[in-house]
This record gives sequence, C-alpha cells and structure tokens, in this order.
Amino acid sequence: MAIKYGRPIESRVRVVPAEGRGEAAPLDLATRLRRNRRTEWARRMVRENVLTTDDLIWPMFVSGGRRSPVESMPGVDRLAVEDVVREAERAAKLAIPCIALFPYTDPGLRDESGTEALNPDNLVCRAVRAIKKDVPNIGVLCDVALDPYTSHGHDGLMRDGTILNDETVAVLVKQALVQAEAGCDIIAPSDMMDGRVGAIRKGLDNAGFKDVQIMAYTAKYASAFYGPFRDAVGSSTTLTGDKRTYQMDFGNSDEALREAELDIAEGADMIMVKPGLPYLDILARIKDNFGMPTFAYQVSGEYAMLMAAVQNGWLDGDKAMIETLTAFKRAGADGVLTYFAPRVAENLRK
Ligand code: PBG
Repeated sequence: MAIKYGRPIESRVRVVPAEGRGEAAPLDLATRLRRNRRTEWARRMVRENVLTTDDLIWPMFVSGGRRSPVESMPGVDRLAVEDVVREAERAAKLAIPCIALFPYTDPGLRDESGTEALNPDNLVCRAVRAIKKDVPNIGVLCDVALDPYTSHGHDGLMRDGTILNDETVAVLVKQALVQAEAGCDIIAPSDMMDGRVGAIRKGLDNAGFKDVQIMAYTAKYASAFYGPFRDAVGSSTTLTGDKRTYQMDFGNSDEALREAELDIAEGADMIMVKPGLPYLDILARIKDNFGMPTFAYQVSGEYAMLMAAVQNGWLDGDKAMIETLTAFKRAGADGVLTYFAPRVAENLRK
C-alpha cells in the first residue's frame, strides 16, 4: 500500500487487542500527529501559512454625499472624499499596503456610455489625488470598468442588448489613462472584455505611464455574490439582465487557465481570482500553473454572509474572518482584497 508521507499504514500501526471490558487498547504508533498540535508554541512553530497585514488590500466606497452605511454590508460605509483620506491614513498606520476605490456615482451623472468614467474630476480621481497628497506611501488601486457609470449597470457599452467588446476596450483604455493621470498606482480591469489588458498596457506605456501596474481581474465569474457591492455602488437597481456574456461561467475551471495565460501574455503584473472562498480551487490551480503574484477577492456577498451570521450570534466574527483569510493564503494567494481589512489589521496588531 502506497503512502506519500511516512511509512505505509500497515507497518506504522499495530493494534494491540483490547483486554478487559471496554478498556481502550494502547496503540503502538510511531507517528502521532497530535504531538505537534499539543502546545501553542509548537503549533506556531510548524504553521505553514500565516496571515499578515501585508496580505491585505482594503476596498472602499466613495460617494459624493455624506458618509452613509451600506445596508447589506454591516460595518461598511460609503465615504465622502475627506473620509476616504482619513481611512487611507488609518490603513497606512495599520501597515495595510494598498487600498482599492469604488465610486457611488450620482444617478444623474450616469448615462448609456458611462461618460463620467472619463471625467478627470470624477469621484475616484478626486479621491486618488487627495490620498496621494496626504498619504503618499500607500498604494492606490482603481477598478477599470463602466458599471458604476452606466445607466444600464453593465461594465461595457451596450448596443441592442449586446455588450460590445472592442468598442468598450477603447473606452477602458481612456478610463485607465484618466486614473493614471490622477495618480493611481494599480489599474485593475474588472470588466472581462477580451484584449483589455494588452490594450491598457499599450495605452499606459504610450502615455508615459510605464511604471503603473496592472492587476487583472483574470478569473472573474458571473456570481450571485456581488449583490451587496452593487447596492454599494448603486448599480443593483439599474442593472438590466446579468453579466454572463462577459464574466466567466461558474462551471468552468480550465477556462480560468486560458484567461490567466492571456492576461500574463498581455502584460498583467498581478492576477486575481474572484469571488474568493467558493473559488479556492481556481486560485490554487492558477497559482500552481503560473507562479504569478496572485490575489483573491473576498467579495461583498461573502462578507455579507459572514456578517449576517455574526450579527445573529451564530459565528465568532474575528475567528471566522481570520480562518477564511488564512484559507486564501493556504490556497496560494499572495494577498486578498477584503472588506475585513481594517478589522483584521487591528486584530493582528494585538
Ligand atoms: C465592477 C466590479 C464588481 C465587483 C468589483 N468590481 C461587480 C460586478 O462585476 O458586478 C464586485 C466586488 C464585490 O462584490 O465585492 N465590475
């Protein structure tokens, strides 16, 4: 009988027959895995994966109005630009390396083609400039996609109910340039159009932004777990239909490797799998196959699910949070975008 670790089971275990009534027979075991688990110091010594604040990217919602709670994400608020700067300062103090910005665009500014995405003075750009001025040493990541700006809530341009690919990519390149101009460090295309990473890389390079990084939403699945996020950015009521013609089908796994291959060839510096916990298999395959800096997004629905149970007293929030985030590391993630970021960072400091 083959066994990968240690000696074969037969030679390792010799069961001594029980004597007397109900007496447990002592097992003659050479290997007892519980030895390494007995004390806290020993557990720490043999631990294979450890979560640190360096693993965290903190997603934040920016709005034009005053600070307001996102109902479906307890503990998460839409922030005014001044609040975002303060939270960025807090993130820097907590040694969180990077924050990600998502806008709640005034409904009056949304239109068919998402033109507000190209306004150099839009919310995201204002927030980036304010953060870069006051908190220069934190990384700022911006999503590239049109959904916070379109009246139909889709990530791209729509014609006769179809999301156009190449036409959308041309707009996304402009959006990326507007964000890079504002001072964004990492451009993160989340739209899933074909060819967008290469086009954005070329656009950035031609405009002199050759050091701006790209984190591609590489394996982004059409998922029910984005619901609360769409509440937060105000696209859940406007979204017509679903995103299955461009986001990945959740039945697929090999296809994620093809996506990764393309994004890497097109110049992505970092790649991402999204959602998180239900897709750890995809994360592990991508990391194993490509060895790229690979990130996971613990999305809004995962956060909402945990928080709902925590609020009911059904789960220990701190423990569940650390366990899920460590699971990402174990599966191969180099970091995680998570709404728990400030809470984890505060916990890890204790
Ligand atoms: C926009 C975008 C989405 C998320 C990140 N960027 C939503 C979507 O694709 O519909 C989801 C993040 C989350 O749920 O936390 N393209």
